[in-house]
Amino acid sequence: MGGNVALKLGSLALDVPFFQASLSGYSDYPMRMFARRYGCPFALADVMLAKSVARPDVLSKSCFLPGDDEHPVGAQILGKTPETMAKAARALVGAGYDLIDINCACPAPKVMRRGRGGALLDYPDKAIEILKAVRGTVSCPVTMKLRIGTNHSAQSRENFWEIVTRAIEQGVDALVIHGRTVSQRYRGKADWGLLVEVKRQFPSATVIASGDVFDAQESLSQLKETGLDGFVAARGSIGNPWIFKELRSLWEGKGLPSPPGLAEQKGVLLEHLARVAEGYPEHRAVGYFRKFLVYYVRRHPKRKQVVQALLKARTRKEVETVICEWYGEDGEMKGAQASG
Ligand SMILES: Cc1cc2nc3c(=O)[nH]c(=O)nc-3n(C[C@H](O)[C@H](O)[C@H](O)COP(=O)(O)O)c2cc1C
Repeated sequence: MGGNVALKLGSLALDVPFFQASLSGYSDYPMRMFARRYGCPFALADVMLAKSVARPDVLSKSCFLPGDDEHPVGAQILGKTPETMAKAARALVGAGYDLIDINCACPAPKVMRRGRGGALLDYPDKAIEILKAVRGTVSCPVTMKLRIGTNHSAQSRENFWEIVTRAIEQGVDALVIHGRTVSQRYRGKADWGLLVEVKRQFPSATVIASGDVFDAQESLSQLKETGLDGFVAARGSIGNPWIFKELRSLWEGKGLPSPPGLAEQKGVLLEHLARVAEGYPEHRAVGYFRKFLVYYVRRHPKRKQVVQALLKARTRKEVETVICEWYGEDGEMKGAQASG
């Protein structure tokens, strides 16, 4: 890592003030690996259910383990029982993770119903007990992922402030705050205003923003204007590892790099597919990879046609054929015609 420190997550120093968020169902090793290749200094793995990863047999499965070549990398845990969360954290650090992030943000109804994730925002005592238990167990940095409340009620706002205040008192290494309530899920525009208020009240705390990081230039301007410590890229990085190249280049004062040509995109698509195929049986690999494809094709000038062709492809070979047809030399021609 370079000499300049732009963001500190406890003892972990990053040379740029952004990293890749935890994205359930997406932020697996291949996605993290491409992010890193294009300049992301640190990434969080998919959220893991503490109850599962606390069991000794589960962590031997490679899908839960960090790659040898991707440090620093963080694990995010989901649960409501302090002892289980602490046990999971210890197991994950033992498996090689460099940071533990506590999920107090997930809005999925089945998670909320079980009192986990975003539901913890209504239970400050529980959220803080979990933080204390985890911090008491591991010596790596411990961060918390929050939303700005379960809803916009005064009680919810009060709970949010109580969690923030007590977490900072307990020495949380950073708060990553998604500027939406649980009820909002992903609707509306993310509000970084409350995050600015947190930073104003607790200037020595590390406050990291989440929400609507889609455009590198805009996000960096917003960071500068708000004075927050950093931000995470989430949906904006799915099928788009180039956002990190743009962010890094702008941060380093080198201007916006030229966008990736179709040949470069083709290389990444084929490699990503190959990586996914290593971890899944073929039919599942294609289905799983489609989730990324619909994001990757956004950069293609004939996006609609490419999506249609890709959705018809059933086997890995068929997907590869479509990619080769639309990207690379022929694709460049098709692309050029489309944009001309
Ligand atoms: C499909 C999907 C899965 C997500 N999974 C997680 C998760 O596991 N843990 C987490 O803290 N946030 C998760 N998030 C929330 C993101 O990390 C981020 O906070 C949110 O998308 C707002 O950022 P954005 O508007 O830039 O996407 C997820 C979001 C999406 C869209």
